[in-house]
Amino acid sequence: MRLRKKAWAKPLLDSYIDRIVITKLDFLTNPIKDVFKNNHKLVLEIGVGKGDFICQMAVNNPELNFIGLEQNETVLAIALKKVIDLGLTNVKLIRVNAGEMLSIFDTKEIDIIRLNFSDPWPKSRHEDRRLTSPEFLNMYFNILNDDGCVIFKTDNREFFDYSVEMFKENNWDIVDLNYNYPFTNNKEDVPTEYERKFRALGTPINFIKVKKILKK
Ligand SMILES: C[S@@+](CC[C@H](N)C(=O)[O-])C[C@H]1O[C@@H](n2cnc3c(N)ncnc32)[C@H](O)[C@@H]1O
Repeated sequence: MRLRKKAWAKPLLDSYIDRIVITKLDFLTNPIKDVFKNNHKLVLEIGVGKGDFICQMAVNNPELNFIGLEQNETVLAIALKKVIDLGLTNVKLIRVNAGEMLSIFDTKEIDIIRLNFSDPWPKSRHEDRRLTSPEFLNMYFNILNDDGCVIFKTDNREFFDYSVEMFKENNWDIVDLNYNYPFTNNKEDVPTEYERKFRALGTPINFIKVKKILKK
């Protein structure tokens, strides 16, 4: 996401630390239920961008908690503004590279992982940056509970085909797969910023939902 760095972004993020913006340390020293002050199920979105998805999902599902990871300070600050404006108490945001997730979350702590229009990183030398690379899938396997699932949407067919193969090769069971996923705007799913852009261009949207295959 190309966006000029905004001077107000860091001060805004800093002023909401311990409230909406959570640092890695908060999760290490406090169980997640203390951070949210309840025991609700946890949805983790990786790469929240400007936050339309996480905010609308949090509005539609007040009985769920949402954690958003995003490495770009400026887009995270735009997402934070939306969380503030909507007065959402079931969303926390962390500015971090998702590669650090194992130092944030405990084993089997997360119920659902959502990946939306993740960067495809088409060059093979950048494969380890793809959020569906084997390294990332291993991390998801670790932090997801045994009933948990990963849900991934993208416009990029080549990246999607790669991801389907990676899920198959790395102990994931495909429970739903759609190469022309219909526009959905309900409790289960809502459109993201990128999704609206690609749908307006007529690009088919790919969707996959996978669950862990548990070794007996
Ligand atoms: C193409 S944008 C999609 C944004 C949003 N999910 C959507 O669908 O509109 C990908 C976003 O993921 C973030 N991102 C990519 N790799 C990441 C990583 N390893 N850790 C955290 N955020 C990441 C980028 O900064 C960017 O904001």
